[in-house]
Amino acid sequence: MSNWITTTDESKKRWETNADFWDGRMGEHSNRFHREIIRPSTEALLEINEGEVILDIACGNGNFSKRLVDLGGRVTAFDYSVNLIENAKKRCASYLDKITFKVIDATNYNQLIELGHECFDKAVANMALMDIADINPLLNAVYELLKSNGIFVFSVMHPCFQNPKMRKIVETEDLGERVETRSAVQIFNYITPQCYEGNGIVGQPVPQLYYHRPLSELLEQSFRAGFVVTGIKEPVFNTDKIEWNEVPPALIIRLQKN
Ligand SMILES: C[S@@+](CC[C@H](N)C(=O)[O-])C[C@H]1O[C@@H](n2cnc3c(N)ncnc32)[C@H](O)[C@@H]1O
Repeated sequence: MSNWITTTDESKKRWETNADFWDGRMGEHSNRFHREIIRPSTEALLEINEGEVILDIACGNGNFSKRLVDLGGRVTAFDYSVNLIENAKKRCASYLDKITFKVIDATNYNQLIELGHECFDKAVANMALMDIADINPLLNAVYELLKSNGIFVFSVMHPCFQNPKMRKIVETEDLGERVETRSAVQIFNYITPQCYEGNGIVGQPVPQLYYHRPLSELLEQSFRAGFVVTGIKEPVFNTDKIEWNEVPPALIIRLQKN
């Protein structure tokens, strides 16, 4: 794990290549996964109040930064992809009085700490920690950047159910009185942290690098930075169709500065 940091340049290069594709697929309102799985639970845990100063970590094309403003926040948003920040500035053209966009590498403590000291009420990292090679500098810096009792909400691909080489399975069984279709996930790798290639969106130009950390690793690093856990959500799609509606695709955690 200690050598994952050497993959940051490669991971950034891939996000630069994928930036326009991601921006196009997310569009103005992001995809169903963000709208139905990530946003409602993240917003419930963040509990934004009018005028709060929010840090949006690894903001991508800025769609959630806009949403944070709509909820009453004043936002500083950053990403290490120059191309995504360019896209974000275009997407958020009418919000630039309330959002400051910056290019910052979340693995670089010194860059992060330049944002200030105890100046944010809340921080959020949507679907990003599993894309970041080393989350220690980020957790330590966010602890410093937050005001006393500040909140940090992060969402990640659920480490128990969305991990390296995981398979999605749909089985159909004829039970006589009815034919039952069940969906499941098959898990092969969970406990060992791993860097691996994957596709966040099918058809993206190049695979991105993921950094799988089991739940214990993710939380121990958060505790070591000084945070306590004050909220957790495991959202699922609300549908009758064949979906993995018993297996949450994402995990959303609220950390609080102790
Ligand atoms: C799955 S996207 C999520 C983007 C956005 N938060 C959203 O929810 O739409 C992951 C983002 O993490 C960013 N990222 C990955 N590693 C990073 C790093 N070391 N520093 C800053 N951003 C990083 C990528 O450029 C990408 O925009």
